Amino acid sequence: MDLWDSLESEYVDRTPKSKERFEEIRNHVPAGVASTYRAWDPHPFVVDRAEGVHLHDVDGNSYLDFDMNNGAGMVGHAHPAVTDAVKTQLDEGTLFTHPHDLLAEAAEELKKRWDPVDLVRFTNSGTESTMHAIRIARAYTGKDKLLKIEGSYHGVHDAVLISKSTPEGKLGHPERPTKLIESEGIPEAIADTVEIAPFNDLEAVEGIMREHMNEIGALIVEPIVMNVGVTQPYKEFLQGLRELCDEYGIAYIFDEVKTGVKVAPGGAAEYYDVEPDLVAMAKSIGGNFPVGAFGGREEVMRTIEDGAAHYGTYNGSPLVLQAVTTVLRDVLTDDAYQHVNDLGEKLVAGYEDIMADAGIDGHVENVNSQGIVHFTEERIENYRDFLEHVDTEFHENYWFAMLNQGVLPHPHDASQQWTISVQHEEEHIDEHLEAFKSVAPLLAEKQ
Ligand SMILES: Cc1ncc(COP(=O)(O)O)c(C=O)c1O
Repeated sequence: MDLWDSLESEYVDRTPKSKERFEEIRNHVPAGVASTYRAWDPHPFVVDRAEGVHLHDVDGNSYLDFDMNNGAGMVGHAHPAVTDAVKTQLDEGTLFTHPHDLLAEAAEELKKRWDPVDLVRFTNSGTESTMHAIRIARAYTGKDKLLKIEGSYHGVHDAVLISKSTPEGKLGHPERPTKLIESEGIPEAIADTVEIAPFNDLEAVEGIMREHMNEIGALIVEPIVMNVGVTQPYKEFLQGLRELCDEYGIAYIFDEVKTGVKVAPGGAAEYYDVEPDLVAMAKSIGGNFPVGAFGGREEVMRTIEDGAAHYGTYNGSPLVLQAVTTVLRDVLTDDAYQHVNDLGEKLVAGYEDIMADAGIDGHVENVNSQGIVHFTEERIENYRDFLEHVDTEFHENYWFAMLNQGVLPHPHDASQQWTISVQHEEEHIDEHLEAFKSVAPLLAEKQ
């Protein structure tokens, strides 16, 4: 049997119960998962429970977890401080559809971290956060079109499911990327409300803004394109966008669903020292509870009091706001960031040493708690570079090889990143690197 095939068959041998249970779930739930991204071949392992930095499957396998719920778990699983806060709230009411003090408390914690944020509204997910941020931006500028970056993911509402994963051959001109609707069921007409621009190319962005000057009211950017292999911006790119937005009367939105509180306490806005008008947040602000938020400058956010709709029965539930407040105030402290960032450096250095010793071409893209290994020396500067240089099949084999060693390096996808949590310790980084060292000879042979 080919060595690559043996990786998958070893996984299959270790997960017979998962296979069985997954097939049963599939009888009730399309694709057997609660979010279509989570379905992968031959079958995902079925989780029994999670604690600290480990996931345990129904077959009795344990995985040292660096996926951390697709980046929602910078606090690690079942963090005791978060769990205790939520337990207390369970006895005092889990949902109030009337104002309560936690709204102000949690909002204040976010405002302390993001300078451009004067006012905050809570949602239940990243999708809701980007959807409302875009609506508020359009309401504020009075212009209907959205400008979005090629290849970037901002959740699943219609306007952002355009040109997220355009295949080679359909990309169009690099400075005027094709608009490609990514799901059946989205009306073609939605594409008329969106323009697509390349990442890291200010000239192209300006060209599009000039061409649609009276139409584009909102620009949404993920400051580090996390689902394109942690693609970082050129030094001047994000600030350049700030200036262009001012010039062309466009509200500038940072999608910090993944970068927020993870690359720095105040997310990418702090890390790159750039001030957007609006910030969309979710994932790690909630310590694995379902929450999102969006916030921004007062005059932009006040459009909510003046005609821009934001409603929702579960918005600002006290249960999740207990989690948010505890995460931001008590768990993600300065010491915790130091701890996580040190571990991040150790992991990167370890990967680079092992690849050099084994003769593997590759490099690590990393920003503090977030990183990914690319098995290419080429730097990835935008979505098209990723398509051209990243061998996703090779990466998938690395991923299975690591899984067989008991390490889940990141979600199942060559474009996704690891998250180092506050519950990871040095020994876990050593364990991750030991696993990589043991699979490195195979990767070197196959490259
Ligand atoms: C950058 C970004 N924005 C928005 C979302 C959507 O968030 P959610 O899955 O909570 O709806 C995601 C999810 O992965 C994301 O990575």
